Amino acid sequence: MKIIIDTDPGIDDGLAIMLALACPEFDILGLTTIFGNVPVELATENALRLLDLAGRSDIPVSQGAAKSWETPYGGAKSAVHGEDGQGNLFSPTSAQKPLETTAAEFIVSQISKFPNEVTLIALGPLTNLADALKHDPEIQHKVKEVLFMGGNAFCAGNTNPVAEANILADPEAADFVLGHHWPMTMVGLDVTQKTYIPSKLIAELAAIPSAIGNQVFGAYRHYLKFYKEVNQMDGTWIHDSSVFTYLLNKELYRTSEYPILVETADCISRGKTWPSIKDYSFIAGQENPWLGRPKVNICDDVNGKKAVSLLKNRLMNATFPIEK
Ligand code: RIB
Ligand code: CA
Repeated sequence: MKIIIDTDPGIDDGLAIMLALACPEFDILGLTTIFGNVPVELATENALRLLDLAGRSDIPVSQGAAKSWETPYGGAKSAVHGEDGQGNLFSPTSAQKPLETTAAEFIVSQISKFPNEVTLIALGPLTNLADALKHDPEIQHKVKEVLFMGGNAFCAGNTNPVAEANILADPEAADFVLGHHWPMTMVGLDVTQKTYIPSKLIAELAAIPSAIGNQVFGAYRHYLKFYKEVNQMDGTWIHDSSVFTYLLNKELYRTSEYPILVETADCISRGKTWPSIKDYSFIAGQENPWLGRPKVNICDDVNGKKAVSLLKNRLMNATFPIEK
């Protein structure tokens, strides 16, 4: 499966990238980076470093948007991900450099080069995907599948009571992406917050020697501390990795299909992903703002224990270089 990973690493992004690298099913065409957990320049550095540590510097990295369509970048989420987005490990930078092409150009070029073969995966704000669509709307007919970690259909948000972080970071771009007729799956908080990885399992995975494991699970110490302080949890949810556990075994997930609108007004529900869960056309003369929008495949339930076992097995059986 040819995939592109659009990412803002980010501690849970790091785990997701490691998981993807551990799976021979995935042929990673490239990583594209986006502002979010950290400024985009740092996201790019982190992406390059993670690939380096995994011995996969052959995978190209392309830098994307530095801010959302409408608002300035709100700053790094250092309380969650550390000043460096990697749990304050401040590891040495990679000698590798990103491509000259932008993330949007890279996405367009790969989808055009391999029509109906590329699965596009977004683990951060949807700005690069929206920019790619603007650049060449034809990609919506040529992509195989689009999956994104983000949004909350039937549960509360995680940045405020109504919105999820990735969607709230650029609601206009998210609404633009969700308004296009391409095959989309939303892997949002409805399922990621039912997929719990205990700190004991993180420690087990950290004990397997590898350079990328040292980075990823070293960073998790910071993430676990945050979860303990804020959520009183002795573990964390796996947000970004859930896209890969879904792709690896779709049977673990229940899905439903609805058109989605993203709230873009400057109001308390800005960034909320609203699925149209019922047909109200029986009310004469009432406008339907969802009319003509494509249906999105929404992951709304998961066997979280099995999803975490899947992640565990894949990481336990992977071979990565021990030293950088
Ligand atoms: O809401 C979870 C998302 O926000 C994840 O992608 C995580 O990396 C953070 O950016
Ligand atoms: Ca992310």
